[in-house]
Amino acid sequence: MNACVRAITRTLISEEIEVVAIRRGYSGMIDRDFVDVDGQSVSNILQKGGTILKCARSKRFFTTVGRAKAADNLRDAGIDALIGIGGDGTLRGAHLMKKEHGTRIVCCPGTIDNDLFGTDETIGFDSALNTAIENIDRIRDTADAHDRLFLVEVMGADAGFIALNCAIGGGAEMVLIPEFESDVIHIKNRILSLMTAQSRSSIVVVAEGEGLGGAPAIAEALNTDDAFSHIDIRVCILGHTQRGGAPSARDRVLASRLGAGAVKALLDGFDDVMVGVENGDIKYTSLSEVSSRKKSINFELLKLAQMLS
Ligand code: F6P
Repeated sequence: MNACVRAITRTLISEEIEVVAIRRGYSGMIDRDFVDVDGQSVSNILQKGGTILKCARSKRFFTTVGRAKAADNLRDAGIDALIGIGGDGTLRGAHLMKKEHGTRIVCCPGTIDNDLFGTDETIGFDSALNTAIENIDRIRDTADAHDRLFLVEVMGADAGFIALNCAIGGGAEMVLIPEFESDVIHIKNRILSLMTAQSRSSIVVVAEGEGLGGAPAIAEALNTDDAFSHIDIRVCILGHTQRGGAPSARDRVLASRLGAGAVKALLDGFDDVMVGVENGDIKYTSLSEVSSRKKSINFELLKLAQMLS
């Protein structure tokens, strides 16, 4: 996100447009947590994880009173257009500001889950994926050394993009995602066939939003079945390790392109849209379309993951 903040700031400055940063997201908009920024303010942040602007989920913003206060603050501060960075909640909030207060707004997609329609990739996804794969490589050493079965849970409350891609990139023996209904019997049979005398270690990647309750629930189902008494099972939840750390090169480039693309969108008169990248090109999609459509998982990738395991 920092790479995106930097790109937005510097592109605006290059167009001689004044920039005000809003700290703590929509909460900061309600509390008037505004800071003037210049080109120097965003120096040395490109390579840093997290966001210098901080993030906050705001219950107040999801009330009409909260949004009216935010709109008043923007008007008072002379802010005539907004660029938001975030996931589904950020985009829905932005669209409401447009509808209720006419705020000019363009958003950049920022979520590790990669679950936004209108862009092939979201800011943070590639970095999270690389972190998850690096961890799977490390876990594999223990799995191999001790002949264990590891259930590795990755983020993705509603989407399996991280899980599916890191299963392929990390060579997992099995992957379970929310978009594809898991069946306990099938999982058990598959694991038993994997844990043979020749191959006694396995890694199963589980998206946190997978239908059976995630890695802990699956481990419980296996551990309470006598057929698995000879298998040493471990659960490893990668959790927030996936949301921190230095961004990957690919994410830095994507965030820089999207940030500059958001400024261009405003200058070209676009409004109420999200900037995305599809097939390598910048593309604008209306916020209402982004919020109402679901990005579908590539089932070819699921087949590939299964075939290669
Ligand atoms: O950004 C979405 C997400 O990464 C989900 O995959 C995950 O469930 C959630 O964030 C975790 O959010 P929090 O940090 O609030 O626990």
